[in-house]
Amino acid sequence: ARLAILLSGRGSNMVALVKAVHGGVLRELAEVAVVFSNKPDAPGLETAAALGCVTASLTSQGRKRQEFDAEVVDILTSYQPDYIVLAGYMRILSPTFIRAFAGRILNIHPADTHQHQGLHAYEWAFEKQLEETKITVHLVDEGLDTGPVLAQHPVDLQGADTLAEVERRGLAVEHFLYADTLARLIRGELPSPTPEPAAASAAV
Ligand code: GRF
Repeated sequence: ARLAILLSGRGSNMVALVKAVHGGVLRELAEVAVVFSNKPDAPGLETAAALGCVTASLTSQGRKRQEFDAEVVDILTSYQPDYIVLAGYMRILSPTFIRAFAGRILNIHPADTHQHQGLHAYEWAFEKQLEETKITVHLVDEGLDTGPVLAQHPVDLQGADTLAEVERRGLAVEHFLYADTLARLIRGELPSPTPEPAAASAAV
């Protein structure tokens, strides 16, 4: 399967995915068609190039969402991706984008998406002093962190007394869970995701 990995920042999940493609659970299952960023100066883009990935970027600054997304769809389509893999891509996707790749867009969220949506999920877990949080890999729909869940994995936060420690433990789980979930999806091992309640009622 051909992956388009989208990022806006550091790119540690992208690195984990590329390593899994090169010599881990995604070997012989996936290739990285392109690493794309809406921020031409994202550190993760440079890291991707250093890892030998094809990279592309288009600045989203000052652009209208719909128009920008239509251009991104054209760019990504030219790489013929099977899956769009969001890895710290800090944009809410327009319906234009979602419909272009319906059911083939994945995101990783550093919390249980039923408990916390949007930014700052590690801060949230830290401030609430949770003993456990969950990393979620889900399909992307038109809401913010609302799509059908593909996989979740717990993170033990007992004794994690700084935000940095919460993030360190969480990222370690993110880095194996994303590649592992993609591998299972590509192999056809994941059950069809159950629609989320909101989507289910909308369909009635
Ligand atoms: C990760 O915590 C991911 O779950 C969230 O954004 C962060 C991206 O980090 N969606 P990185 O750029 O992959 O290091």
